[in-house]
Amino acid sequence: MTGPATPRVALITGAARGLGRAIAEALAQQGVTLMLVDILADRLEATRAALVAGGASAAAYATDISVKANCAAAVAAAIAQFGRLDILINAAGLMRFNHAADVPEEEFWHLMQVNAAAPFWFAQAAMPHLLASRGNIVNVLSQSALMGTAYIVPYSMSKAALLQLTKSLAVEYEDQPIRINAVAPGAMMTEISASTRPPADADFAKIKRYSGARPPAQPAEVAAVVAFISSPAASAVHGAVWPADCGVTAG
Ligand SMILES: NC(=O)c1ccc[n+]([C@@H]2O[C@H](COP(=O)([O-])OP(=O)(O)OC[C@H]3O[C@@H](n4cnc5c(N)ncnc54)[C@H](O)[C@@H]3O)[C@@H](O)[C@H]2O)c1
Repeated sequence: MTGPATPRVALITGAARGLGRAIAEALAQQGVTLMLVDILADRLEATRAALVAGGASAAAYATDISVKANCAAAVAAAIAQFGRLDILINAAGLMRFNHAADVPEEEFWHLMQVNAAAPFWFAQAAMPHLLASRGNIVNVLSQSALMGTAYIVPYSMSKAALLQLTKSLAVEYEDQPIRINAVAPGAMMTEISASTRPPADADFAKIKRYSGARPPAQPAEVAAVVAFISSPAASAVHGAVWPADCGVTAG
């Protein structure tokens, strides 16, 4: 929400690869300055270098966002580097297939920390800066926040929590100069499921209910939606959850 003389600054979590990287590329196209955050330090640096080679202004901050203090430190690093923050994109996320009966406690809480708690701590730390810049937050949910999805129950729970973070924060700040929204992707061609597979004895008819009739989206297709909602062109959009799931949650 600033004029062309003042480049907007975005902090993007999960920016090393996949959708987060695609969002960084889309925002760079809008001339937005980037603070890229991820736990994968080498991939993050490669992404930063590629963006800068393409003409973007970008810094990287490698950290584990499952720790509350690291979320605030990442926001502080963005302010120290660029002096302002206009956009917070909570795109980092983890997904694990499992029978609900077999989910270990550690896996359950780690999913909650990365997918639901970290976006809350990022929002809390970023809020004063976003209010000062009349900025906005976009949370990356999943179709799993909008429908029941078998064999990924804690993931689905975490994304539903992130949906309510979006809506409840939007109401709490309805009289403040900030927009808070979410995008709910369906399946995308990324590495999120590279290290997890449905249980061998899963009922695949239940998985098919959220697999969709269309091919998985490219991350850039969903990133374009996120980039629009975070842009001044979406100034009327607040407290919204925007599916980008190629029709899966249409029924
Ligand atoms: N790929 C899909 O089919 C799909 C569908 C719906 C929603 N989503 C959501 O999209 C978002 C991006 O996922 P993606 O598909 O690009 O997968 P991805 O695995 O390629 O990207 C997720 C990123 O989050 C980072 N991350 C994970 N844990 C972290 C931690 N503790 N600290 C810091 N960074 C951490 C990873 O290193 C990775 O770079 C996620 O929130 C995911 O839940 C993905």
